[in-house]
Amino acid sequence: MAKDLSRRSFLQAGIAVAAMPNIVVPKAIRPVVIASGNGYQFKNGGTETCVERAFRMMTSGADVLESLIAGVNIVELDPLDTSVGYGGIPNADGVVQLDSCCMHGPKKWAGGVACLEGVRTPSKIAHLVAASTDHHLLVGKGAQEFARAMGFQIEADLNTDRSRAVWLEWKRRTDPSHYLDPSKRGGGTEVAVQMAREGWLDPEHIWGTINCDGINVNGEIAGVTTTSGLAFKIPGRVGDSPILGAGLYVDNSVGAAGSTGRGEANLYGLCSYLVVEEMRRGKHPKDAGLEALKRVAANTIEKRLLTENGRPNFGLNFYALDAKGRYAGVGFTPGARFAVCDENGPRLEACETLFS
Ligand code: GLY
Repeated sequence: MAKDLSRRSFLQAGIAVAAMPNIVVPKAIRPVVIASGNGYQFKNGGTETCVERAFRMMTSGADVLESLIAGVNIVELDPLDTSVGYGGIPNADGVVQLDSCCMHGPKKWAGGVACLEGVRTPSKIAHLVAASTDHHLLVGKGAQEFARAMGFQIEADLNTDRSRAVWLEWKRRTDPSHYLDPSKRGGGTEVAVQMAREGWLDPEHIWGTINCDGINVNGEIAGVTTTSGLAFKIPGRVGDSPILGAGLYVDNSVGAAGSTGRGEANLYGLCSYLVVEEMRRGKHPKDAGLEALKRVAANTIEKRLLTENGRPNFGLNFYALDAKGRYAGVGFTPGARFAVCDENGPRLEACETLFS
């Protein structure tokens, strides 16, 4: 596949330049799609991953944002990813509530949904908010009614046997009213972390999410983020994913950035916006992402959120690409990988880290 894509994107880019020594022909952008690691992992029973589908569509002439959304739809629909869409880990009441947002660089469109119940593909609804309304963010019942009005079937329950079993185990272990006791803040997330250690949950996905960003051969940039949010969250909790500037930000003249991980830490600094602004000031996506992580680390002062050596004890990753087609994934500590697809085909690459 890599070969086919390579040839096609090469031809579309019109990179071949005739021998005209005195004429400088600007090189076209090398298209690329990046995503969190689950963008390379899940296929929903098909043959393609998120980044492969998005790259294939984008390099076949489809709209850049529509390509990315078609990519994340694979993960949203796959019951095996318990952090996104159908089969995402539910909230404390056992209800799957989904968040998503998207941005279209050239069109300067943005749309998001939060606390959406009953629709497997919140990214599609976020796209419709951007494309069909004057608004940027619809939540809860309103988002669901909008989805219904747009012709989407509303399902009674987006749990799978797996997500329900994980929730029941969590329920068994926690006080049903697990609001934080101010004297020993830790609450339900601590139990979730322990359950991840025991293999009930993917530790990368206690906070869930897929972010996917791409640039096509014309330099058109877009991004989408979609999630079932923090496992066992208080009903109504919204994380960073659907919030423009936090879970995602796109400026076509600069680049795109998005996140996965602890949304609360990202929301405090609106870090996707920060990453794009750092790239605007000339930073490489890697350095821009590390700058955002430094900001988050500096803002993390509560003991319950710190390791013994004073570092954030939670996961937070940023994925960024710039208008030149350069890209990076970043995280606090080694181990995380992110998905990439370009003319060399799909693969996982290591995230750059703030701490060794
Ligand atoms: N980053 C996903 C969330 O915190 O909801």
